[in-house]
This record gives sequence, structure tokens and C-alpha cells, in this order.
Amino acid sequence: MKVVTCIAPVNIAVIKYWGKRDEDLILPINDSISATLSMDHMCAKTTIMCSPDFEDSKFWLNGVEQSLESKRLVNCLQEIKRLASAEPSNAEMLRWNIRICSENNFPTAAGLASSAAGYACLVTALANLYGVKTDLSALARRGSGSACRSIYGGWVQWHMGCNPDGSDSIARVIEPSIHWPEMRILVLVVNDARKKYSSTTGMNRSVATSDLIKHRACNVVPKRVTEMREAIKTKDFNKFAEITMKDSNQFHAIALDTHPPCVYMNDTSHAISDMIHAYNEHKGVNKVAYTFDAGPNACLYLLESEVAEVLSLINECFPSTVAKSDYLRGIPLNIEKSSD
Ligand code: PMV
Repeated sequence: MKVVTCIAPVNIAVIKYWGKRDEDLILPINDSISATLSMDHMCAKTTIMCSPDFEDSKFWLNGVEQSLESKRLVNCLQEIKRLASAEPSNAEMLRWNIRICSENNFPTAAGLASSAAGYACLVTALANLYGVKTDLSALARRGSGSACRSIYGGWVQWHMGCNPDGSDSIARVIEPSIHWPEMRILVLVVNDARKKYSSTTGMNRSVATSDLIKHRACNVVPKRVTEMREAIKTKDFNKFAEITMKDSNQFHAIALDTHPPCVYMNDTSHAISDMIHAYNEHKGVNKVAYTFDAGPNACLYLLESEVAEVLSLINECFPSTVAKSDYLRGIPLNIEKSSD
């Protein structure tokens, strides 16, 4: 029997991925940029076992058995097995059944990038199991687009690429986490219920019905990516915050421009963004940036020096939200391996 365990954290996009040009290969219509969080709070942990004694393959997520028929899971497994079969010594092991056991230590499918951590973890564990050495970001992308960014630590860009086979649609590090060690992220859990529409449903509907999404992908994001890379490289927090908030708002504007609309933010989300604007105005410069994924929960980017003040404001104004402070990850994904 061979056993591999991997832990992978979530990433929070500051330039959002929204919309695919190829559903099967998961190729996006625009580049995106994110930071990968530490392993302390929001992680997926996956253990994979394979043995000649297993009569069938099984998959559990948070203790609940899942179908192994999911297209994305099948694509990841097939692709890894195809790469692994290039090594003749893998032939026997590739015939063994597997058991996958995955869990998240934070709400699943609540718009908190659980699938990003989950698939980054799954492909890293599988690649280790079969000894596959390749760019794992392209493999993780086949499970969930944003997962490709969780393969790396620090500031990461997912390049949309232009090859029809997706070979250049990969993630690359812009800067490691040590580049901006004062950067912190506060995750405010407004509601931990599953989101109303999955990202897949939402973005496919947006591509089919929104006019604004075309303008965003062609005219807005390319310029924004250049500006964001520059803001990160020069550690210009004011600019970084401005682009992050504008991009989150444009993504949600597209969700509303979708027909029927996808409403992800709620009244508390809007009240949080109002509070951040008031705080920044009071300080005379952007000190905090909010960003919202496909759900009502807020992620705040801020420097260490602001954390205590902002946390006390949140506790005062939004006592029912769960706020967690985190930092960026700088170490490779954790792997534990064993065999008998
Ligand atoms: O990777 P998916 O299919 O869960 O899509 C993620 C989409 C957003 O979280 C809204 C944006 C992003 O870039 O992470």
C-alpha cells in the first residue's frame, strides 16, 4: 500500500477570474492575480491511498462519500495517470484502486475558494503518489480554474494563455510572500452556507448573457494586470487597494449584468465595503482593501500595522462575523509519504 497526504491553502484573487473560453480544459477569458494564504487557517488536507487489495475506488469529502464520476475529478485522474504511465515501473501501481479522503478546515463551497485548495491538494497528492514531475498548475486547473494559483505561494498570476490545448494556461509567481512580509488578510465569514449558484453556473451564465464581461476581458483586465503587477512589485498599497476593490466591484457588476442575475453579496457585505471606504477616507489614503468572491464573505487585505484597529472596528460594527487574520504562504505544499 502507498499513502500520500498533502495540505494546500486557499488563494484570494485581487484580479478575478470570471469566464471560460473552454469548459473542458478550463481555459479562462482573462488573466487573474491572487495571493496564497498560509497553512494556518484555511486549508484542504487530502490523503490518497492505493493498494492492490482495494476492490474499488472511493472518494470522501468532509466525511461524506462522493461520486467518482465528476468530470473534473475524472479529468485530473486521467491526466495524471497518462503522465505516470510514461514511467514503466508505474505500470502495476496504475492498476490498483485508490481511496481519496479530503477535508477542508473552513466552510466548503461558501465562496471561500474551497475548490481551489481542494484541487491543488488533490493533484499534488496524486502527482506524489505516482511520481509525476510536471507543472502541477496546469493539472490543478483541470479540477478548478483558480486551483492552479494555490500550487504556488506568494503573489501568483494565472496566465490565460493562447494555445488551444491549454499548455500555456498556467500559474507563475510574481513575487514570493517574503517580498511583502507586512501583508495580512482578514477573512470575514458573513455566512458560511453553500453559495446559491456555483462559480461554474455563474460564470457560464455570465459569458452567455453579459455584455459587460466582454468589455472587462478585452479592455479592462489586461491594463489592470500590468498595474497590479507594478503595485505589488513596488509595494504601493494605495494603488494595490484601489485596483483590488475596483476589480471586486466589477466582477459583482458582471454577476448582476448576468441574466438571470447572480447575487452573491448581501447587505452585510455592502455594509462592510462602505465601512472600508469610510475608514480609508478618514485616513486620507487606502489602508484596507476588500474583495468578495462568489459569496457574501469579505476578504480584507491590509498591512500588519492596521490589523488591531480594523479588527476592533469589525468586532464593534459586525460582531456576528467571524474574523480571522492570516498571512501569505512562503513555503512549498506539505507532503507526507509512506508505503509498505
Ligand atoms: O475556480 P472556480 O471555478 O471556483 O472560480 C473562482 C472564481 C472566483 O473565486 C470568483 C474568482 C477567482 O479568481 O478566484
